Amino acid sequence: MNHPHPMREDDVTLFVNARQTVTCAGPARARRGAEMGDADVRSGVGVAVQGDRIVAVAADEALRRRFPNATEIDCGQGVLAPGFVDSHTHTVFGRARYEEHELRATGVPYLEIARRGGGIHASVRDLRARSDDDLFARAVPRLQALAAGGVTTVEIKSGYGLTVQDELRTLRVIARLASIGPLNVVATCLGAHEVPLEYRDRPDGRAAWLDCLSDELYPAVAVEQLARFADVFCEPGVFTVPETRRLLESARRHGMALKLHADELHDGGAAVLAADMGATSADHLAAISPEGVAALAASSTVATLLPATMLFLGTGRQAPARAMIESGCAIAVATDLNPGTSPLQSFPLVLTLAVSQLRLSAAEAWIAGTVNGAAALGLAGVTGQLREGFRADIAVHATDDFRALPYWFGERLCQVAWAGGRACHTSA
Ligand code: NIG
Ligand code: FE
Repeated sequence: MNHPHPMREDDVTLFVNARQTVTCAGPARARRGAEMGDADVRSGVGVAVQGDRIVAVAADEALRRRFPNATEIDCGQGVLAPGFVDSHTHTVFGRARYEEHELRATGVPYLEIARRGGGIHASVRDLRARSDDDLFARAVPRLQALAAGGVTTVEIKSGYGLTVQDELRTLRVIARLASIGPLNVVATCLGAHEVPLEYRDRPDGRAAWLDCLSDELYPAVAVEQLARFADVFCEPGVFTVPETRRLLESARRHGMALKLHADELHDGGAAVLAADMGATSADHLAAISPEGVAALAASSTVATLLPATMLFLGTGRQAPARAMIESGCAIAVATDLNPGTSPLQSFPLVLTLAVSQLRLSAAEAWIAGTVNGAAALGLAGVTGQLREGFRADIAVHATDDFRALPYWFGERLCQVAWAGGRACHTSA
């Protein structure tokens, strides 16, 4: 709807009476190296929202003088902050995979389960048998759970369909989730999540599946504009580096920006490939090589770390985050919400793992979950900061110190979250 007149002053909402305001304000790009250590924590500062935008960040009294008719949201001496950006999830899936959790506990590795036709294949069989409405209905509460932890922007990948029709179906469900709001949803096509079993069992199957992705799926995704990004699971035993390069080149020709599941369990040179191809992000990286670290540090590619995945897999291993930051990488963190390796719907718990497992400071963890998560989605100028002109993606947490979010692990501290100027969570 077009407004004939500019919005009136009394359409403004003020977030005031915060004990701490974590603005994360700074340049509208990924923060790297030492820049990650400053989340710009202030006191006495509030935020004014009009429509879907932040229109001012200033002292409470200055905001009240400037917007005398505004509605006020009392932050109750809590922490006022940007909403989190969960830049890596697989939120659209059917059933849980409890059986694999136990199987891994007996010592069967993740990739061995996949070789036996379980893992991703189990979720593929399951998704194909479900209706779009069922998939949609299962995803909605997962998004609500993320919002309840203060997430206001979420990336969602396809990748459990693995036929052209089932991948498109998944991406249309993601589009529907985006359209209902209020969470900001970014879609990624992960048709290259695996070689589906029906192709794996044919002698020419691998090549045929790669052709299907490049020649059928990516063009169809482009026609309907269903995905901003394409992603590939580049891992020894899944897709090789040359195969991944070919897929990413094709996806780019069809207008998608690039992401990569890179060096998750073994170093296969995927991080170097991501940097070389100018991918927006390279994700996982628990097995990254020193060459991979150097390549990412010298590139604009955001290194997205998923510490919950390594914890849940029980590998006892994590990405070398400190060395990466010291080399000048830009680190983001995300949940990797998925039924196989990270059934996690709490973003604050990722902050805990970022500090306790990746050895980030609390401020670095906050930057990784806001500004750098936004950069990992190409949204560094849009969200992830409390700054005039940014989208009104805001959360209020019931605590007096921003370090409480990583510290009180498993606690539900988020009281209010707004995405694009609309409430997406209010605690009871
Ligand atoms: O990010 N590594 C590949 N993809 C997912 C897991 C998928 C699954 O097991 O269902 C991940 O860990
Ligand atoms: Fe993933």
